[in-house]
Amino acid sequence: MPVTPPSTPDRSAYLLAARGEPVPHTPVWFQRQAGRALPEYRAVREGITMLESCRRPDLVVEITLQPVRRYGVDAAIFFSDIVTPLQFAGYDIEIKPGVGPVSADPIRDAEGVARVRPVTAADVPFTTEAIQQLVSELGGTPLIGFAGAPFTLASYLVEGGPSKDFAKTKAMMHGQPDLWHALADRLAEVAIAFLSVQVEAGASAIQLFDSWAGGLSPRDYERFVQPHSAKVFEAMKQYGVPRVHFGVNTGELLGLMSEAGADVVGVDWRVPLDEAVRRITAAGGAPKPVQGNLDPALLFAGWDAIEPEIDRILAEGKAAPGHIFNLGHGVPPNADPEVLERVAKYVQAKSAHVPA
Ligand code: CP3
Repeated sequence: MPVTPPSTPDRSAYLLAARGEPVPHTPVWFQRQAGRALPEYRAVREGITMLESCRRPDLVVEITLQPVRRYGVDAAIFFSDIVTPLQFAGYDIEIKPGVGPVSADPIRDAEGVARVRPVTAADVPFTTEAIQQLVSELGGTPLIGFAGAPFTLASYLVEGGPSKDFAKTKAMMHGQPDLWHALADRLAEVAIAFLSVQVEAGASAIQLFDSWAGGLSPRDYERFVQPHSAKVFEAMKQYGVPRVHFGVNTGELLGLMSEAGADVVGVDWRVPLDEAVRRITAAGGAPKPVQGNLDPALLFAGWDAIEPEIDRILAEGKAAPGHIFNLGHGVPPNADPEVLERVAKYVQAKSAHVPA
């Protein structure tokens, strides 16, 4: 069934769902929807580093729009990375293809913490320009701004690269708590600064990625991480845009991540959405819209396996006051764009309310 695009983001299915209001259909977009799964992305990125592409408004606009054109998703996400605001502020961290962010000089002391500085709008005129252009080209499709949450960003800075156990980060938290809190506070300022630039330029919603928070116990999360993410959400409240919070493997943390101040809680594939709503409300909080949660691995399982999974997720999502359909994590680089397009169209058609 064709989906008529709204004329302003404000009435879009994505923002209606994020506010818990009635929707024309369940909105759908894909975390990491821009990227290597798309041949048109690989073509425009050819010979250009990630950092350089993030500094070029023409490329940012094109790469952000590619998945919207291709999949017909209900939201765009600004093309950047969680570490780019640090790079723009002169911090020496590199994005290694196939690896992720790596730093040759990891943070282990106060001198290292002092090297972290938030970007200002003056540092990133290209970000403001790209977002303004995107908002005008996107019309009624909302643009999501995003940043890395203090813990996930810190994990790259302290470990020096991707990590499975976050041993050095946890050692800093417990062994040098003052240093840890100083670092996390600076990273909260980085996130606030970058998110503010994006919203002031016209982004309609923000998502704070704490992708690796699931590596923490609830006790550690509450003590070492939640106050810093809460600071970000609190600072962004003044803009009145929906604030989404997402992490992987966060089944034990959903209540605490919700309490940090999110308006919408992102859920990976491990916890069914109705159970996620139960966990979010377990400590007495109000139910909130949720986002998720098709296992990205299912994209490779064939349509006969995918369709019933989507049906199940749509049914479970009804337990929440709003549901934004998404993958439980990012689009894998080897995903088939045709499958993603079919998922988006199916979600929109299956959930559409046919006017009487
Ligand atoms: O489409 C979108 O979602 C917008 C763009 C986006 C990127 N990174 C572009 C990117 C977003 C939202 C991110 C967030 C991000 N970056 C997260 C949180 C989301 C998640 O997946 O959990 C994290 C943990 C990072 C850190 C990071 N940067 C990783 C793990 C990688 C992948 C490394 C690799 O090459 O496999 C990157 C690099 C990166 N960021 C790429 C893209 C498109 C790939 C690099 C490239 O295409 O050259």
